[in-house]
Amino acid sequence: MSELAQLHDQVRSCPLCRLSNTRTLAVPGEGPEGPQILFVGEAPGYHEDQQGRPFVGAAGQFLESLLGSIDLRRTDVYITNIVKCRPPDNRDPQPDEIAACRPYLDRQIALLEPRLVVTLGRHSMQIAFPGATISRIHGQPKRIGDVVYLPMFHPAAALHQQRYRSLIEEDFLKIPALLAELSTVEPEDDPDEAPEQLSLF
Ligand code: URA
Ligand code: SF4
Repeated sequence: MSELAQLHDQVRSCPLCRLSNTRTLAVPGEGPEGPQILFVGEAPGYHEDQQGRPFVGAAGQFLESLLGSIDLRRTDVYITNIVKCRPPDNRDPQPDEIAACRPYLDRQIALLEPRLVVTLGRHSMQIAFPGATISRIHGQPKRIGDVVYLPMFHPAAALHQQRYRSLIEEDFLKIPALLAELSTVEPEDDPDEAPEQLSLF
């Protein structure tokens, strides 16, 4: 079994926070083992909790159509959440729950080595932009170590509010150019070479 599959199993039986008492199924995440992009949502909702899969409800359909706008399918990307179990009545995940679950996300990023991590909504934004305000920083990429993070509005919020909907649609359209630019940056193998400047940063 791959390390990723082992991690998924570990999440499915995780007892580390109170959400383990109320979940039906934990939702580890899904997607290919070598994705270019990893999406991080907030938390499973009703349908995700029933099926053990991320973004299978209305927000998921919208996410799929956003992916379609840049010629990607859901199976091209890895999709997960900042907390892997559904909070009761879809309340916000609490800080101690986010903290307890965080090592799983860190491990997913380390194992999957995506070029780009797209955070969806203000909770998952905190992994890379602590204290930031989403309406100010959405759509602006930031490099941390080997990974570039791109914050976006949450598709569930954007689905029903036209203002956010236009903004998330515009932010998605930035992804192809960003990926193309990232793919021209090789890992540092020649220490004498001048560092490349990324125009989008
Ligand atoms: N919203 C999320 O943030 N995550 C899901 O998996 C589904 C809806
Ligand atoms: Fe474990 Fe995360 Fe589920 Fe809490 S939310 S029980 S830490 S998998």
